[in-house]
Amino acid sequence: MRRLQTRYWQVDPTNIDMKIIRQAAQLIREGQTVAFPTETVYGLGADGLNPEGVRRIFQAKGRPMDNPLILHVADPQDIHKLVATIPAQAEILIKTFWPGPLTLIMPAAPGIPNEVTAGLKTVGIRMPAHHVALALIKEAGVPLAAPSANRSGYPSPTAASHVLADLEGKIGAVLDGGVTGLGLESTVLDLTEKTPTILRPGGITQEQLTAVLGEVLQDPGLENKELKPKSPGMKYTHYAPRADVFVLLGEPQSVAAKAQAILQENRQNKIPTALLLSSETWPFVDKKDAVYAREMGSHKAPEEIAHKLYHELRMCDQAGSKVILVEGYSSEGIGTAIMNRLLKSAGYRVIN
Ligand code: TXA
Ligand code: MG
Repeated sequence: MRRLQTRYWQVDPTNIDMKIIRQAAQLIREGQTVAFPTETVYGLGADGLNPEGVRRIFQAKGRPMDNPLILHVADPQDIHKLVATIPAQAEILIKTFWPGPLTLIMPAAPGIPNEVTAGLKTVGIRMPAHHVALALIKEAGVPLAAPSANRSGYPSPTAASHVLADLEGKIGAVLDGGVTGLGLESTVLDLTEKTPTILRPGGITQEQLTAVLGEVLQDPGLENKELKPKSPGMKYTHYAPRADVFVLLGEPQSVAAKAQAILQENRQNKIPTALLLSSETWPFVDKKDAVYAREMGSHKAPEEIAHKLYHELRMCDQAGSKVILVEGYSSEGIGTAIMNRLLKSAGYRVIN
């Protein structure tokens, strides 16, 4: 692939410089790729109605072509041209959660490129809650197809520096709007089944969805690795740093004891090991044998953990660790998304 001169623009989300947005939108209309911040993670956008632009996303990321992309809109009205029919529950969900971290899977309109849907009859759409993203989509005048702006399989980017580390020279530009808020991706909700079904847990929790819809299911393929998940993206090893990740489960004192024993063994075997622990566990561990150690926050504040997780996994790689021991969290609320990403990044290696 020819190396591109990736353009870099800083944009203040509270005072957007439209000169920059117009240049970025021009690249999109020309079929180029532009990375941009959202409230979840950075996306790598291209004109979602231009097959050539969309193919450039797959090339830059090294993403398998059978993994469909989300279309990003700047106005709920924009979905009418993109879907064949609007499922009954869509209206209330859009009213309640858009703009925000909820992707709705709906029947695709005939004109949506196969590159976006990966040949499925459905399309995922969301309206991001970020001023820079919304300004770019509006100015481009087209829906933006955008996966997370990381090299395929690696943790998603929560800062422009992560995007550049993975994709510099492979994409047209990056809009740097600072660190993203949520830190984990949107919830993917399938509205084409009789009962709405979560295909990927994310920023909007099952509890929040149930409060609005009554009944919401979770794709059984998410928790049972013998079953094939319905969302193609969930079947790949994903969100994984280069080092081997292990998830430690249990009460703080027992997690601490396990971490300590593994640290000592790895030191003897000269395996550089990193630690990502809760504040509850942190004081019980002697960190001197770790190449990198971070206190991620309290079990009582999972939002803080979600916000930091991808950045800290990348930092563990940078520190040269070969093994990362990450403490697990309770699967409630946003914890469901945290544990989903942790288990995937660990390839389901759990130490109980
Ligand atoms: O927060 C987010 O959702 C971020 C930001 C940039 O918007 N985007 C993101 O995109 O995470 P990506 O491509 O990394 O993940 C999209 C997920 C994948 O698991 C994909 O398989 C699934 O959504 N997906 C997309 N379209 C689908 C469809 N029609 N049916 C089932 N799953 C779909
Ligand atoms: Mg992704």
